[in-house]
Amino acid sequence: MNVPLLPTISTFFIVLSAIFVAIGWSLIRQRKIEAHKKMMLAAAVSAVLFFIIYVSRTVFIGNTAFGGPEHLKLYYTVFLIFHITLATGGALLGIFTIASGLKNNLTRHRRLGPITSIIWFFTAITGVAVYLLLYVFYHGGETTSVIKAILGF
Ligand code: HEM
Repeated sequence: MNVPLLPTISTFFIVLSAIFVAIGWSLIRQRKIEAHKKMMLAAAVSAVLFFIIYVSRTVFIGNTAFGGPEHLKLYYTVFLIFHITLATGGALLGIFTIASGLKNNLTRHRRLGPITSIIWFFTAITGVAVYLLLYVFYHGGETTSVIKAILGF
């Protein structure tokens, strides 16, 4: 199977981040506060690594268009927008959840924690689905770089 390296690494980091969140949630259910904090910070680092790789690829190499059949393109685009919305919402909620945890604002943290975690699980699941649709089930379409598009090289 011939899959591109950077999207494979970045998808791996989203999945790793969601696994860390699941472990972090189970740790707090056992009242292991310090371990919960460390695991959730590891989840955040993993998410940041995903983001750095994703943004660098977008800027320097480009985004890949859907290469599957024409009649599926619209469904793919709607699904991709759904995934991007989840990821953006999850990232913002993640920042508020971490901030409330670190500030010991536990009423807010307990309200946000489960919502953020569940949105993050769906972000990872839909992220893997986008990856499979783009590179595994079909061959990726054209890749155009932002820099190339703007500067013409
Ligand atoms: C790194 C900073 C964090 C710290 C210091 C922290 C600390 C805590 C503490 C002390 C609790 C126990 C609250 C209580 O029951 O009295 C808690 C609960 C929880 N946290 Fe965190 N947390 C952090 C990050 C996160 C993140 C990023 C998430 C989710 C993505 C998260 C999800 C949860 C969940 C689901 C609970 C259980 C809420 C409940 O059902 O009562 N935490 N956290």
